[in-house]
Amino acid sequence: MKSFFGVDYYPEHWPIEMMDADLDRMIDMGVEVVRIGEFAWHIMEREEGQYDFSFFDMVIDKLKKKGIKVIFGTPTATPPAWLINKYPEILQRDENLMPRSFGGRRMYCYNNEIYKEYTRKIVTKLAEHYKNEDTIIAWQIDNEFGHEGSDVCFCDTCKSGFRKFLSEKYSSIDMLNKTWGTVFWSQTYNSFDEVPLPLKTITHHNPSMQLDFKRFMSKSINDYAKMQVDILREILGESAVITTNIAGGYFDKNFDHNKMGKMMDVASYDNYPVWGGLKEPITPANIAMDLDFIRGLKRQNFWIVEELMGAQGHTIIGYLPRPNQAKMWAYQAVAHGAQSILFFRYRTATFGTEEFCLGIIDQDNREGRKYREVKEFFSDVKKHKELLQSEIKSEVAFLYDYDNIWAWKIQQQSTAFNFKEEMLNLYTSFYKHNVHIDVLDVKDDFSSYKVVVLPVMMIVDEELKARLEDFAKKGGTVLFTYRTAIKDRNNNLYLGKVMPCNLTHLTGIEVEEIESLQEGQFAFADGKFGTTKCKVMREMININGAEAIYKYNDKFYNEKACVTINEFGQGKVYYIGSSLDNEILCEIAKEIIIDKDIEHYTTPMGVEVYSRYLNDKKYLFIMNHTDEEHDIFGIKLMPYDSKIIEVK
Ligand code: GLA
Ligand code: ZN
Repeated sequence: MKSFFGVDYYPEHWPIEMMDADLDRMIDMGVEVVRIGEFAWHIMEREEGQYDFSFFDMVIDKLKKKGIKVIFGTPTATPPAWLINKYPEILQRDENLMPRSFGGRRMYCYNNEIYKEYTRKIVTKLAEHYKNEDTIIAWQIDNEFGHEGSDVCFCDTCKSGFRKFLSEKYSSIDMLNKTWGTVFWSQTYNSFDEVPLPLKTITHHNPSMQLDFKRFMSKSINDYAKMQVDILREILGESAVITTNIAGGYFDKNFDHNKMGKMMDVASYDNYPVWGGLKEPITPANIAMDLDFIRGLKRQNFWIVEELMGAQGHTIIGYLPRPNQAKMWAYQAVAHGAQSILFFRYRTATFGTEEFCLGIIDQDNREGRKYREVKEFFSDVKKHKELLQSEIKSEVAFLYDYDNIWAWKIQQQSTAFNFKEEMLNLYTSFYKHNVHIDVLDVKDDFSSYKVVVLPVMMIVDEELKARLEDFAKKGGTVLFTYRTAIKDRNNNLYLGKVMPCNLTHLTGIEVEEIESLQEGQFAFADGKFGTTKCKVMREMININGAEAIYKYNDKFYNEKACVTINEFGQGKVYYIGSSLDNEILCEIAKEIIIDKDIEHYTTPMGVEVYSRYLNDKKYLFIMNHTDEEHDIFGIKLMPYDSKIIEVK
């Protein structure tokens, strides 16, 4: 897979007379590729059946003359008005059964047969038209699946689809009743046709049912995506490169991104460290975790097909990245494995919902600071293309499981709980030591890592238990946190088992009682690295073989452990029974990193170092995420400076 750099370009947003000058400017900027087409259905099919690709033929022709390559997007994120007016049943319905209106984007139901048929037609025509066009180096299907709340639908098609999904999953309605525990509140169903969708009700729907509904939505979205991939593959052949741009907020969406990522030839991401209304960007660790998550989807380097350059927002405008800050984020992205980057967008639109999604060039059409930053970045990273394609090896893996994430969404258990925040708190504690981290689906093979971290992994089944025991036995370090292994795959509790269920042997502990702590409510624990606040939840742990390194500082529970370590085979198992202060987690992470002899670097707060290797040579990517100057390894870093250096 090659490495290339470019911009997201919407030639349909500008007078045609501007195109030649725009392309010359792109060449001057260092652009090698543009992404086009992803929202332009009406241009391609003005009226039903009248396919016309002449506009994009003209665009591609001009691009080709300049030597600029193309990523072409299928336009299905924005169905045309004629289609929605003819078949309003294509529209998604929200949980109050109200249809989403035409006007925004992504308002279609993934299960609607009519929409699937029109999708098949436009994607087929498009692919057939361009199948011999070698200027197109890759295809993007749709745009940001599930984003902006488009990951759920309660229409009649989805209702019958859900019932069919359940009847295929459960051998009989009795089986479903038993699994879900529908005897509770007299919810027993006599047939699959009685099962409702989880619409608004009084209190809450059954947790097992809700989890199955999320799985059904996930399957619906992934099946719809697969349909497009299959059409493109069939027409364009094995050599075609197919991707889709994954949006931020991936842990909040109702589809398994791992399944989506794995069906693509390359994983792509839209990297926006700040967006509309945020006073400041998300943390450097958060951006890093996002990048590591995308790299983990296929366990290989990836593309960024939208990298923020200007402030972004629909009605509220976001924070203005400081000089060199957005450029620094692009360096951070390549450090973490983005081997190709396209900046969003070439120029700010002067109309439409995204007038305030500012581009490299603003509406004044002048080359300013952002233009210079992109140009400098392109010219520098192009020297390192081979390095950017080198494999990243990590010894620490963070494991997630969408069933578990959804189970937490269904039952938050504390108002202070947020899955991503819990994951990020732990991730940050390793990130601060500048180690490589892979973020992986728990089903992936983790046996070759030195450390695996499983944040708030409520659902642990026999198969995972066996893999973890084997991993620890052979010398691996496992880190669990609170609420580990309390649920089975059906989202039910275990009868007659002590928490962490099935893992008391591995962890050497028993959880006797739990307490949910709400927003702003803390307990305290004392131990090895000083006192820590305990937030979100806390577990009163009895030792059964493990060593307590933290105990609660508390009138009633001061004999109960909060953090423990157990020796298991040749390995070690950490258990952290609450959400702790990051400084304390950093110390625990450091202890593990040193114990396992993992490559790491000590840097001033906000200065990130990421090592990469190519042909026996070592390189460091250095990013200053702060607005202050720093000196590191004898190199002076200006505010938001970034460097790629070879280490002798
Ligand atoms: C997203 C989309 C783009 C555009 C940008 C604006 O990530 O994919 O179409 O909406 O954000 O920031
Ligand atoms: Zn639907």
